[in-house]
Amino acid sequence: MNKPLTNKRVLLGVSAGIAAYKSPDLVRKLSELGAEVEVILTKNADQFVAPLALQAVSGRPVHNYAMTAESESGMGHIDLARWADIVLVAPATANVIARLCQGNADELLTTVCVATEVPIAIAPAMNQQMWQNSATRSNIKLLSDRDVLILGPDSGEQACGEVGPGRMLQPEDIARQVASHFSTGKLAGRRVMITAGPTWEAIDPVRGITNHSSGLMGYALAQAAYEAGAEVTLISGPTDLTPPERVNTINVVSALDMHQAVFDDIESQDIFIGVAAVADYRPASSAEQKIKKNADEMSIRMVKNPDILADVACYSKRPFCVGFAAETNDVVNYARGKLERKNLDLIAANHVGGTDTGFGTPDNAITLISSDTVTELPKQNKFALARNLVAEITKHFQTTNQ
Ligand code: PMT
Repeated sequence: MNKPLTNKRVLLGVSAGIAAYKSPDLVRKLSELGAEVEVILTKNADQFVAPLALQAVSGRPVHNYAMTAESESGMGHIDLARWADIVLVAPATANVIARLCQGNADELLTTVCVATEVPIAIAPAMNQQMWQNSATRSNIKLLSDRDVLILGPDSGEQACGEVGPGRMLQPEDIARQVASHFSTGKLAGRRVMITAGPTWEAIDPVRGITNHSSGLMGYALAQAAYEAGAEVTLISGPTDLTPPERVNTINVVSALDMHQAVFDDIESQDIFIGVAAVADYRPASSAEQKIKKNADEMSIRMVKNPDILADVACYSKRPFCVGFAAETNDVVNYARGKLERKNLDLIAANHVGGTDTGFGTPDNAITLISSDTVTELPKQNKFALARNLVAEITKHFQTTNQ
C-alpha cells in the first residue's frame, strides 16, 4: 500500500512505433510502483510488441484496436474510460498525436481518449525530423494547451540511425513522472499527524476492550497525505495492516499510550487528523494476572479516557484540527455538535453500524463539515476517498493559513 501508484489505474495505450518494444518494461515499472495496468494496442502496434508479452506482465488480457460487438460486451470503451485514473499513451507516434488533436474516435484507444475525463499523458516517440516538423510542433502545443501531459521525448541516437530529439523516455522515467503527477505536492513542507485504528484497553494480560476499526481509513489518509508531499506521522492502535512506506509510524496499544505519543510531537505539526476509534472509557485498573472465573458475576469499573482530539484542539500551539465522527444516526447534527464542542476546524462525519461503510469496510462515504461549509464525498474505496479528503482538507488549511 505504500507505493506511489498504489490503487492507481493506468490505461496504457501503445501505438505503432519501434519504441513499443519497451512497453512490457513500462508495464512492469508501473506495476512495481503499485499501479494496475490495462493495455490497449493501436492498429499495427502488435507488429512491434507481442500482445502475449503485455498480457503476461500486466496480468490482464490486452485490448486491440478494434471496437467489435465482442470487445464491447466485455470492458467496453466507456468502461475503460471510467476505469482509468490516467490514460498514458506510450509510445505516442506522430500519427496518434495528430489524431488526438483532432478528437478522432476511429479506434479503441482514440475513442477512450475522447470519452475519458481523467488526465491524459503522452510519451512521444518518433524520428527527429518528424518531431521537429511544424505540424507535430503545433499538435504538441495544442495538446499541451489542453492540459495533456507531455512526457519527453529524449534526445540521442535513434532506431533509424539519426541523432536528435524524438526518442521515447526510458520506462522508469515515464513511470516516475506518472507517479509524480499524482503527488500533488500541495502539502510539501507540511507535517501531518494522523491517529488510526482501535485502541485496546486491558482488563487483564489476556483480555481487553476494543472495537472494529481496521485502521484502513487512517492508513489510507496517511498514504494520501504523503502523496500530497507532507511529512506524515501515523500513530496507530493495533491493526493487521502494513504501514505505508516513508510514513513515520508509531504503534501504540491503549488510549493513554496514544495520547502520550501524540503529545510527544504535537508542537511541530501543521495538521492533526483524528481517525482512530479511541475507547472513551478504560477499566479503572488492569489485573496483573489472568482473572479466574470463580464468581457467577463480575463487573468492571470504567474510568474516562482523555479525549485526544479535544486536548490537541485546545492546546496553545494547536495545529489545524480535523476530527472524525462515527455516528449510527442523525450523522450530520451529531457531527456538528462535536465540531463545536471539541473546537475543531473540520469534522469528517461517517455513517457506521451498517455493512457497507464505516468500521472494517473497504468503502466509506463522508460529509465534511466546517463552521460554514458542508461537502459531500460520496461512497468510494477508502484510498480514493482519502485522496479526495486530503485535497479538501488542504483547501481549508490553506484558507486558514493565508
Ligand atoms: O478503521 P476503519 O475500519 O477503516 O474505520 C474507519 C472509522 C469508521 C473508524 C473512521 O472513519 C472513524 O469514524 N473514526 C472515528 C471513530 C470515533 O471514535 O468516532 P467518535 O465520534 O467516537 O469520536 C470523535 C472524534 O474524537 C474522532 O476523531 C476520534 O478519533 C476522537 N476521539 C474520541 C475519543 C477519545 N477519547 N479521543 C479522541 O481523540
